Amino acid sequence: MKIFLDSADYKKIAEYAQTGLIDGVTINPSLLKAQQESPLKIVREIVRVLPEAEINLQVTEHEPHKVYEQARVIARLTDTMVVKIPCCAQYLPVIAQLIQEDIPVNVTLVFSLSQALEVAKLGVNYISVFIGRLFDNGIDGLEIASSVQEMLDTYSYESELLVASIRTKEQVEGSILLGADAITMPPEVFNELVDHPLSQAGIEKFSEDWQQGPHNDLLG
Ligand code: G3P
Repeated sequence: MKIFLDSADYKKIAEYAQTGLIDGVTINPSLLKAQQESPLKIVREIVRVLPEAEINLQVTEHEPHKVYEQARVIARLTDTMVVKIPCCAQYLPVIAQLIQEDIPVNVTLVFSLSQALEVAKLGVNYISVFIGRLFDNGIDGLEIASSVQEMLDTYSYESELLVASIRTKEQVEGSILLGADAITMPPEVFNELVDHPLSQAGIEKFSEDWQQGPHNDLLG
């Protein structure tokens, strides 16, 4: 399973890169707004610390022909760019054209099985299902994500499910259980994954017992 960080904060990304777990980054206009830095600088800084990682950067244009042009510019920034395009009927021909040109595409803002089917048929690389926003609207986002994964498996589409808009560790675990190909999460959620109160308690107890044991002279 691929793990992406949902962030444009390149200093934080550099920190998390050291975990060896980060396969890529997802960036949208809201994350760029929070950062107030040039997108180009952000991309360059990410490449410096994660040269192999996929950088999923979203288009900001609206007119289909401008989205197409911008997508081509984004794709040329580095070898590892994936262009994020919002799920919308008017962009389907643009997406089809980009796929034909071998430009990696991540269709973002996907909320339903039927949206996912259409873009899977186009052969996009990633289908980003926003489970947190579905839950915000009283819909079980994990159930939708699970149906998308089942559809991809049933019809053997090559697109990968990317579970996005993740807010909690439980949503990460739900994504693992449904067999998602990839997840993207904010650094705060990533932080919650590896620590466990019982692991912490165990570390403290072992350390305490070691201090009181007779073998301190062996291992220092
Ligand atoms: O990758 C999608 C993500 O950036 C959206 O998350 O929390 O704004 O719904 P959120």
